[in-house]
Amino acid sequence: MKLAMSLIGDTTVVGMLKIKGVSKQFNSLTVLKDVSFNLRKGEVVGLCGPNGSGKSTLLKIISGFEKPSCGKIILNERDITKTPVEERVELGLSFAFQMPRPFLKMTVFENLLTGCMLRYEKKEAMLKAEELLELFGLEKLAGRKAMNLSQGELKLLELCRSLSTEPDFILLDEPFAALDRENTKNVRKKLKMMKKMGVGMLITAHKTRILEKLADETYWIELGKIKRIERVEG
Ligand SMILES: Nc1ncnc2c1ncn2[C@@H]1O[C@H](COP(=O)(O)OP(=O)(O)OP(=O)(O)O)[C@@H](O)[C@H]1O
Ligand SMILES: [Mg+2]
Repeated sequence: MKLAMSLIGDTTVVGMLKIKGVSKQFNSLTVLKDVSFNLRKGEVVGLCGPNGSGKSTLLKIISGFEKPSCGKIILNERDITKTPVEERVELGLSFAFQMPRPFLKMTVFENLLTGCMLRYEKKEAMLKAEELLELFGLEKLAGRKAMNLSQGELKLLELCRSLSTEPDFILLDEPFAALDRENTKNVRKKLKMMKKMGVGMLITAHKTRILEKLADETYWIELGKIKRIERVEG
């Protein structure tokens, strides 16, 4: 994994993603009101809330697909609020969408290779893509076109693809949605593995329960406001 380091004076700043006072309006509709929180590398933050509460909008703002009405996104001490999506990926930010968005005409392997080529030359990138296939148990699907995958397989490819650019942080929009019990278990296992690899993850879900034992911090978002959920022990 690439180590997130930025040197400020003599101090090495370990990876941190900061969401600072983000608000979002779509015309007269206020979706997010002054949302702030931090995510450290290697930490999992859960973002839960009902339909339409602004979870996907917030992830789109952090990844660069939407502009905030106000507020800032700081990645490893660098203000990326106006940075284009592709540059954010280069800087170590990645995402897995609610509706997976792989290159549908490419095979599973080619999808992963495309991500790996951001960091490596072709020969090494191919080895990295093979490693990823193995890590996610996708070997048998390597040659299959993404458009022919099932929902569960697509979700898994989306997850694996999000890791292929060796990010410091991944934004995961409802990785458990539309999965049966077995796939839910499998995705949870993969997320735990990614956490162990040192990736910081922001994960959305409707209910907090599904993120139990995975999230270090959980926030509830409703009517545009975010609040931290206190952990109840025992
Ligand atoms: N581009 C847009 N233009 C206008 N309104 C939008 C736009 N994108 C989202 N919205 C509105 O913003 C609100 C929040 O949507 P968002 O998709 O962020 O919610 P969500 O919490 O992800 O919901 P879900 O749990 O259903 O995925 C909704 O009322 C939605 O209709
Ligand atoms: Mg959503």
